[in-house]
Amino acid sequence: MTLCHVRPTPARFVDTLAPADRGGTRAVERIGACIARLTMKMRVLITGGAGFIGSHLADELLEHGYGVRVLDSLVSQVHGPERRRPRYLSPDVELVEGDVRDPDAVRRALQGIDAVYHLAARVGVGQSMYEVAEYTSVNNLGSAVLLEALISYPVQRLVVASSMSIYGEGLYRDRHEQIHDRVQRTPDQLARGDWEPRGADGGGLTPVPTPETKAPVLASLYALSKYDQERMCLLVGATYRIPTVALRLFNVYGPRQALSNPYTGVLAIFAARYLNGKPPLIFEDGQQRRDFVHVRDVAAGCRLALEVDGAIGGVFNLASGEARTIRAIADRMAEALGMSIVPRLTGQYRIGDIRHCLAELGLARRVLGYQPRVDLGAGLGELASWLATQTAIDRVDDMHAELAERGLAR
Ligand code: UD1
Repeated sequence: MTLCHVRPTPARFVDTLAPADRGGTRAVERIGACIARLTMKMRVLITGGAGFIGSHLADELLEHGYGVRVLDSLVSQVHGPERRRPRYLSPDVELVEGDVRDPDAVRRALQGIDAVYHLAARVGVGQSMYEVAEYTSVNNLGSAVLLEALISYPVQRLVVASSMSIYGEGLYRDRHEQIHDRVQRTPDQLARGDWEPRGADGGGLTPVPTPETKAPVLASLYALSKYDQERMCLLVGATYRIPTVALRLFNVYGPRQALSNPYTGVLAIFAARYLNGKPPLIFEDGQQRRDFVHVRDVAAGCRLALEVDGAIGGVFNLASGEARTIRAIADRMAEALGMSIVPRLTGQYRIGDIRHCLAELGLARRVLGYQPRVDLGAGLGELASWLATQTAIDRVDDMHAELAERGLAR
């Protein structure tokens, strides 16, 4: 098997220079210009690229001189009933409208492409527990169709978006300094409103940063499908020598997050409530902790996964490395919006929800050179400015009713 494209290296460019140009700053400038020109020609396909994370990744890649094509089916849960090309998508992005499960659409989208980001997926944990066929079809079959196409059209890099959901609960330490990696809350405990995970002896546990080596605990169809996507890509990548990298994204937030999709993205869900003059509904006691990472940091991490050769075959957390409680997040969002609405603690819980998960970022920092830069205050301020230009339809009550009716929120 031969690769269709070989990425030029700086060394090859030195060979193209006139001998007089090979030393000093002139050579450095010429090499830089050559790399910039040739990188411009590197064309990247993002499946699911018209969505929140994909569109920011497209901006990041365009800024760094790549050409970007997107394959997206513009699902109505994200893009509204009109399913039009989103206005936020850069005009420099070529959009191929199509389903990742459609082999013809995928083959068309791959023409002339050098690298692929696979982001196309359905993304609601609760919803995945009843739309089982749909989630399995889009996430698993969609990946399978893409991979079959890549076997006959290998690219220089495949980057797959996996998720922190595959960890289930994050890593915990008990009072004897023992580490626990398969913590799960019991149904009885949740029914009692006893929210914190406990060790086998009933003792309390402290959450600690979760590294990529933690054993997966797949607690939802969504998590299972994300794990499948990750493993399928790495397996096919290794077999057919398609350099592949998997990224486990934590709780991503930022402008363009779908405001009318009540199934995912707690910050967008809370914002939609506030903008409609209603209190956010907080599950449990609001003391559950998550690692919120700004979408531009995630986009930068995704670009590094394409550019850093040492990343090939690896799996990396992309997060901020800081844990926040959901209650604090609700309050900070209200503050950023200049609102004084007090969130409502429902005492209900979502089946499959975890209590705490915080990322260990050592591997991503060391290998990718990843560095989260957007601090939460600045990120929320920017989100609030963007929200001021948006209309948010609040469907949270419908979502709560839908989950409750199915016994998935209690
Ligand atoms: C989940 C996945 C994550 C995935 C993301 C996108 C897990 C552990 N995590 O994140 O990998 O990328 O979905 O689908 O499976 N909450 C409320 N009120 C609401 C909505 C949410 O209190 O109206 C709470 C939830 O109970 C949860 C937290 O906010 O404790 C975060 O919820 P959410 O934004 O849905 O994301 P996760 O479930 O953490």
